[in-house]
Amino acid sequence: MRATIILLTAGLLLSGCKKAEAPATHTINNSMTQVMEPSAEAIWDTMSKAYNDKGDALDPAKLTEADWKTIADASAAMKERAEEIANAKTHVVAAKNETILGSQAVGTASPPGPEWAAVGPDHVQKLIEAKPELFKQKALALVDSMAKINRAAASKDVAVLYSVGSELDEVCDSCHEPFWGTDVPPPAAK
Ligand code: HEC
Repeated sequence: MRATIILLTAGLLLSGCKKAEAPATHTINNSMTQVMEPSAEAIWDTMSKAYNDKGDALDPAKLTEADWKTIADASAAMKERAEEIANAKTHVVAAKNETILGSQAVGTASPPGPEWAAVGPDHVQKLIEAKPELFKQKALALVDSMAKINRAAASKDVAVLYSVGSELDEVCDSCHEPFWGTDVPPPAAK
């Protein structure tokens, strides 16, 4: 009996230690496809139906309670996942059953030029491992934007939603550029 308890305690302590060193619970691919992409879309879609006639600000009258809840939920989900990414010691870009966008084209010539060549998960993994601090910083930038949008949703502050929401794309891209290449596709060949 006592031995069991001691073993259990040792097990708990071990798993406690492991946790601090543990990799992120989710793969980067899971975070992107299941949280970042759908949540960012939800925010962008909600914003796009609320532009004023001039298109230079949001009209609070066009946002319903449900819209604000969409924004609150989406920003909370993204903030939580970005925090997980920022706090994790190590990352797995993609599991064996996950395919990262464009990786099917790895090894084929890229007509717009080699800088547009497709990359696979191993390549992204190496980029992250080479610059973990920069990766963390980019994740924290997203945490910061989402905290601002979440507070804006709580106080129904359209000005903050507009200013932070309009810059969100750049927060995503500023991580995609160094760690994935870029998500802005080259102009389509005619
Ligand atoms: C901390 C870095 C980081 C931030 C911030 C980030 N991403 Fe990503 N994202 C990545 C990496 C690395 C990949 C490449 C791996 C992959 O495709 O899964 C990626 C890939 C993607 C993909 C392609 C997923 C696929 O099918 O392969 C989408 C979509 C995406 N990100 C959306 C977003 C959106 C939207 C945001 C902003 C709201 C965002 N990301 C912010 C690191 C980031």
